[in-house]
Amino acid sequence: MGTLLFREATEADIEVLQSFRNDPDVNRFMVRTYVDPDDLRREWLAVPDSATDYSCVVERDGQVVAMGFLDIVDGSGQPGHPTGTDGVIGYIVHPEATGQGVGSGTARALLQAGFDGLGLRRVTAGANLDNVASVRVLEQAGMRRERHAVKALWHRELGWLDEVEYAMLDDEWLARAL
Ligand SMILES: CC(C)(COP(=O)(O)OP(=O)(O)OC[C@H]1O[C@@H](n2cnc3c(N)ncnc32)[C@H](O)[C@@H]1OP(=O)(O)O)[C@@H](O)C(=O)NCCC(=O)NCCS
Repeated sequence: MGTLLFREATEADIEVLQSFRNDPDVNRFMVRTYVDPDDLRREWLAVPDSATDYSCVVERDGQVVAMGFLDIVDGSGQPGHPTGTDGVIGYIVHPEATGQGVGSGTARALLQAGFDGLGLRRVTAGANLDNVASVRVLEQAGMRRERHAVKALWHRELGWLDEVEYAMLDDEWLARAL
């Protein structure tokens, strides 16, 4: 697969990110479909100053092959619960780089960043049930399926789709790494 490098995006990355973010093979599986190119630039360039967004670009041999998403969010519960303890991950592999282990490597790196780097308590990820490759990536990363929501996600071409949600806790991450 080659070594993957995970880093913040810079202005020089924006064009390549724009080139595949709205690809039909990508949008088939995204909840948020079309992303306006100016919004994409603004959102990615704001990441270094954000306290909650740790999204990264994934580079292999000097080429951007994927984007990884890691957002710190609040858990749910009664007032007074700790905040900023949970994370949500996601990923998009460049359509020319799929099937080479990049998605799996990115998911593992995002979990490592969330648990070892940021000290999160719990990390979750969602996917369309029919996104076989993404479901495989999450299961290989050691995440547990916690929820299967029937006809829960609206897709503008496909209508209502089933969604699955996966999770991992910090102690599960530690037990897995031993
Ligand atoms: C889903 C996605 C991230 C997978 O990334 P990838 O780099 O192709 O995945 P990997 O090469 O790491 O493969 C992971 C596993 O999925 C399997 N897989 C990959 N593509 C597949 C496909 N089209 N159908 C079935 N299985 C597939 C691989 O065989 C591998 O399993 P294995 O190790 O048991 O053989 C990538 O296809 C993608 O970005 N898709 C569009 C955007 C998207 O769906 N993002 C996720 C939203 S939840």
